[in-house]
Amino acid sequence: MSHLSDLLRERPLVQAPMAGGTSTPELVEAVVRAGGTGFLAAGYLAPERVEEQVAQVRGRGVSAFGVNVFVPGPAADPAVVEGYRGELHAEAERYGVEPGAPAHDDDAWDAKIDLLERLGVPVVSFTFGCPDGNVLRRLQEAGSAVVVSVTSVDEALLAVARGADGVCAQGAEAGGHRAAFDPARDGNLPAVELVAAVAGAVEAPVIGAGGVMTGGDAAALLDAGAAAVQAGTAFLRCPESGARPAHKRALADPALTGTALTRAFTGRPARGLVNRFVTEHPEAPDAYPELHHMTRPLRAAAARAGDAGGMALWAGTGFRRATDDPAAEVVGRMRREAALAGARL
Ligand SMILES: Cc1cc2nc3c(=O)[nH]c(=O)nc-3n(C[C@H](O)[C@H](O)[C@H](O)COP(=O)(O)O)c2cc1C
Repeated sequence: MSHLSDLLRERPLVQAPMAGGTSTPELVEAVVRAGGTGFLAAGYLAPERVEEQVAQVRGRGVSAFGVNVFVPGPAADPAVVEGYRGELHAEAERYGVEPGAPAHDDDAWDAKIDLLERLGVPVVSFTFGCPDGNVLRRLQEAGSAVVVSVTSVDEALLAVARGADGVCAQGAEAGGHRAAFDPARDGNLPAVELVAAVAGAVEAPVIGAGGVMTGGDAAALLDAGAAAVQAGTAFLRCPESGARPAHKRALADPALTGTALTRAFTGRPARGLVNRFVTEHPEAPDAYPELHHMTRPLRAAAARAGDAGGMALWAGTGFRRATDDPAAEVVGRMRREAALAGARL
């Protein structure tokens, strides 16, 4: 029997794992001390860095946290990837760098699963797919509850059939990458609808995600049947967030008015602010992580130049409500608002 239900009952506001440096140990600690559940993001990080971050969080006496891992997928067609390299030529010239090699890798999958089995962290969550049942069991035997992110009822049913202790239902509003096992079969439903459908279909606890910017948003997902809610964009501008300064500024920039799903940066659909790069590369192919590796030097150069037009500015549809308050204040505010809406966060 997993401890997931107890954790989520006690701490139903979950800070989303945010890869790329945003989910710092400091952010996790601040959220957990304020009464929420925190998440480190293992995606893109070397296993040694993940181990360091877990040690840092544990060293501060924080225990209500999880670690999120990217599930690897199939390699893309090299011809399609080469085509996009041509399209990136002008971008590379603009920033005076070369595109990266379009490598296909599994983000050190085996090493990360071995590490997490050794560490036995309270929760391990997955995105981009559902691991085999034996991977889930290894982690559960090591003491972890396992959560799989889903975008449809079918994905939720598969995850629970394989033994997941819970699912994170990611609505269409969500910032960052879509969790879909197969991007072509993304449910893309508004969070309230998805949560209601998934909670009606599986016995396991459902964490609702997508567009949770206020306690009222959280209350709506809890009303729809979620056991807890997961918020990412609401924490992006916090001082404890490791998002780049230009990303934080862009979230409050009146010139950037909306979000869209784009494959332009990584080859996998992700929601971010509509900037120059998104607008100029509307037809990027389905090729993750090849495109991620190809655009990385461009994104890094744009960030060094403080040019938000060339950066991946992940953001959910509710981004305008993100504040630069400390994470503890964001948690406290959401809880007060939820109480006004009759919910406990
Ligand atoms: C900057 C950023 C990075 C993200 N990285 C991850 C990640 O590494 N793993 C993951 O499962 N979800 C990731 N997500 C998605 C979140 O888990 C969650 O679905 C989303 O933030 C919820 O929607 P919201 O942003 O509207 O709160 C990320 C989201 C953002 C905004």
